[in-house]
Amino acid sequence: MTAGSQRFVVEPLRRVGGELTVPGDKSISHRAAMLASVACGDSRVRGFLRGEDCLATVEACRALGVSITDDGQGELLIEGCGIDGLRAPSHPLDLGNSGTGLRLMAGLLAAQPFDVELTGDESLRSRPMARIAEPLAAMGAEIDTTDGRAPLRLRGRSGLRGIDYTLPVASAQLKSALLLAGLSARGTTTVRSPGLSRDHTERMLCGMGIALDEDADAAVVSLEGPAEPRAFEISVPGDFSSAAFFIVAGCLAAPDGMTIRNVGVNPTRTGLMTILRMMGARIEMANLRTVGTEPVADLHVSQSELRGIEVPEALVPLAIDEFPVLFVAAVGATGRTVIRGAEELRHKECDRLAVMAEALNALGARARELPDGLIVDGGELTGGSASSHGDHRVAMALAVAAVLAEDTIVIDETAQVTTSFPGFVDVAAQAGLPIADQA
Ligand code: S3P
Repeated sequence: MTAGSQRFVVEPLRRVGGELTVPGDKSISHRAAMLASVACGDSRVRGFLRGEDCLATVEACRALGVSITDDGQGELLIEGCGIDGLRAPSHPLDLGNSGTGLRLMAGLLAAQPFDVELTGDESLRSRPMARIAEPLAAMGAEIDTTDGRAPLRLRGRSGLRGIDYTLPVASAQLKSALLLAGLSARGTTTVRSPGLSRDHTERMLCGMGIALDEDADAAVVSLEGPAEPRAFEISVPGDFSSAAFFIVAGCLAAPDGMTIRNVGVNPTRTGLMTILRMMGARIEMANLRTVGTEPVADLHVSQSELRGIEVPEALVPLAIDEFPVLFVAAVGATGRTVIRGAEELRHKECDRLAVMAEALNALGARARELPDGLIVDGGELTGGSASSHGDHRVAMALAVAAVLAEDTIVIDETAQVTTSFPGFVDVAAQAGLPIADQA
């Protein structure tokens, strides 16, 4: 099926609610598959996200000689072959739609003694890769991009050396790729970030016995290589980024509240919750617990009067994947919401600033693009047709806009939703948001 061959049709509605769970965290699932593959011994992963992106990572690990048993329900048994045990694949590795899959894999493979090519779908092949190739080359890797993009070609190398590198953007993908390369490098690898970004790699590495040196606000992290992670058992929590669609739907239209159980609430991921609370949302965390190395909670959301705000720029990396649905929340708020410092959104699965401005305006809302953000004026949203440009999170965010609409919303190019949220339509129906998923 191609990205363009599917669409969502959503009728306007005013009320959602109930009790839901969302599938496993995408970022943690990618990392679990890769790190368990180079660990020493057998690892068990429960709650693995069986979305297309993470399954592409599993296939890539298998192509590198790792035995992975998948029970089809999210439980994986991964027979780690150690940091030096991967084998040359017989074909290019296709990471599908996933920047995380491709960039972290580039880091993991930079020091392998065999050649490998990393590629992906059309969207992934249009995203910037020089930002990863340059620091890996500075560590001693031989890596070619295709005009700064994928396919990436890595030539067999061993003997990488640690690096002290300052990232140009607060990106967890870049930070993680360098830390993974650092596992095979001699000496210290230090990554400095201009701000906080998600820290799942650091937490998982610690859980696998790798000593990390982190400063108090985690904007600098170092590890000593070479180092081999220990096998582990992990339960992947529900993905906050998937819960985000229902958090916003609940804030806009759940007079009797809505509960989302077993959601990962790592503070480097919950920027949306902070922003929505600043806008007046009532969101409570209950049953806060630690599962493995990650905090997990149940979220209770209630319909609230939202007010437009200026979103603090420091929160942008902590809500980086949630902006499409935050823009929808801003349409449902009174007054103006201004987002700046979010130029990175132009380098996601699509240009999320341009595409969300176009889609919201097509649906009768008022959004104006800035070079590094968006201005959204709260008010009405009539309905109509909009394209997600094959971006999973744009498609799901626009489906949530039905709680504000006066008319039917038709969203084109929705097939990619399964990359991150298989079962989205079923979970939405459970929340009282029926979506006709048309081929
Ligand atoms: C991710 C990091 C983020 C995010 C992506 C997943 C990760 O990208 O947008 O969906 O798993 O590390 P950047 O770190 O490049 O901002």
